[in-house]
Order: sequence, then structure tokens, then C-alpha cells
Amino acid sequence: MIAPDDAPFLTVEHLCKSYPDRNRSGWRTVMRPILTDISFTARRGEILGLLGESGSGKSTLARCILGLEAPDSGMMLCEGKNASSWRRENVGRCSVVFQDYVTSVNPGFRVKDIIAEGLRFHDVGRKRVQRSVEELMERVQLPARLADSLPHELSGGQLQRVCIARALASEPAFIVFDEAVSALDVSIQAQILELLSSIKNDMTYLFITHDIQMATLICDRFLLLRNGALDETVACADMKSKASPYLRELIDSTLVFSSEYSGKQTSWEPPA
Ligand SMILES: Nc1ncnc2c1ncn2[C@@H]1O[C@H](COP(=O)(O)OP(=O)(O)OP(=O)(O)O)[C@@H](O)[C@H]1O
Ligand SMILES: [Mg+2]
Repeated sequence: MIAPDDAPFLTVEHLCKSYPDRNRSGWRTVMRPILTDISFTARRGEILGLLGESGSGKSTLARCILGLEAPDSGMMLCEGKNASSWRRENVGRCSVVFQDYVTSVNPGFRVKDIIAEGLRFHDVGRKRVQRSVEELMERVQLPARLADSLPHELSGGQLQRVCIARALASEPAFIVFDEAVSALDVSIQAQILELLSSIKNDMTYLFITHDIQMATLICDRFLLLRNGALDETVACADMKSKASPYLRELIDSTLVFSSEYSGKQTSWEPPA
């Protein structure tokens, strides 16, 4: 048996998930496979990317891992333990940050109350809550003066920092970022990626994105999901030498910026 300390943080084996196919008419419900035979591990402290085209099943896989959806079959372990038992014993130690920061907060809550939502897993008094909220705001580099602001009074980047602070509040071991920076401006994306790297410590991240540049900027390794199946696992350090034809295709399809005024072109190259 693997000792808990040696076990990968997360082990997924032969996971399958399907949904009812609404396009088929008839008496019987026909299921449409979404994820087929997914197996991978995430090491403790690793930033594991999950990359794939829109509709390839990234969010569905994340929901299964978080226990928000039940897979049809397969096995999931957290720190060597059955994932559902681990989640029951470690309430709050899995957090998630979604892409849509606007709908993931209560519009009537002030910043301090949104962040305090993440503290509900801890039995803390009012004074401690206030101090923890202040500390969390500092950790995600939000000015203290925003504590009483409402969500609509913040910029997108500030509101996403609030969501990150809420996710950190429960002292998670594992955070899923589901396209968490995709909706932000490029310069803000870079700042948030830097923030995520700086606050990571020994947490394990599952970083979902459809953007290969973003994956290589922050991830140690990434899984490539294609039509619900795991196409390959890529260590970012090996990308230049070992890019498969499909990965090469993805790299080549990344946006090339050009300007008729400067005449300059900047295209992205995988890290050396
Ligand atoms: N609750 C559901 N019921 C039925 N079908 C669903 C459900 N959730 C997702 N799907 C289908 O599963 C497929 C995968 O969806 P999913 O949201 O996991 O993709 P994704 O890779 O996260 O896409 P995106 O990059 O656009 O977020 C899609 O075809 C979607 O329509
Ligand atoms: Mg998604």
C-alpha cells in the first residue's frame, strides 16, 4: 500500500462520464459519452494544466474531481484515499475559481462578506473573521479600502482577486481554476498569473484553459484533452523538443498579433 505522503495528491483512473443526448428522440434515453477512460495523476504542489478545445470536457472533468458531478465509472483518489471520503474528511480543502467572476459572487454582498463566505468552514469569531479578511485581501493585493465595496464597483481584475481570496480562505490543499483568467484583459491576465504563482506555496492547482500560451506560462505539466479523451500529457520543459503533430497544430493556431502601423509581428514560441 502507498503511504499517504508518497501518494500523488490526485489520482484519476479510467474515469468515464456521459450525459443524456437531448438531440435523439425516442422512448429510451440515449447517453452521449463526454469523457472516456481518463487516467492521470497530479503531484502534490504541482500546477497541472488541463488544455483542450471548447466542448472537449474540461469543466465536466473538473466537476467530477470536485465531487459536483458523479462519474459513470472510474476511480478517484486524493492523497491515496477514496476521493469522496477525503472530501468529507477535508471539508473546504478543495476550492474552485470560475471564469465568470460576475455571476460567481452575490451582487448584494460587499467584498468583505464575499471573502468571509470562504471562512465558513472554520469556526472563527467575528474579530478573527475581520482580521482574516484583511490578511486575505493583502495576500491577493487588494487595497483595504475596497472591503466595503459592492461587486459592480470593482474592475474585472479586482473582482477576480476577490474570488481568489474567497477560494484561499478555507486554506485549501487543491484549487481548480476553470478558465479563471480567460475573461480578463491580457495585461491583467499576466498580473493574476503572477499572483497565482506567488501565493501557491505547497498547494496543488488544476489550471483549466484553452490557451496554450497561458498553460506554458504557469503550468509544470499539462494534459491535452481531445473530444473527451486524454490525448497526451506534456511537461512544459519538453514542449519544444517533443511537441506532437496535434500539439504543433495548436501552437501554430495561436493568434499572431500584427500591426499595420508598426509593421511588427509577434508570434508565440514554446519556452526554450
Ligand atoms: N449538464 C450537462 N448536461 C448535458 N450535457 C452537458 C452538461 N454539461 C456539459 N455538457 C456537454 O458536455 C460537453 C463538454 O462540456 P464542458 O463544459 O465540459 O466543455 P469545456 O471543455 O469545459 O468547454 P469550454 O472550453 O467551452 O468551457 C459539451 O458538449 C457540453 O454540451
Ligand atoms: Mg469549461
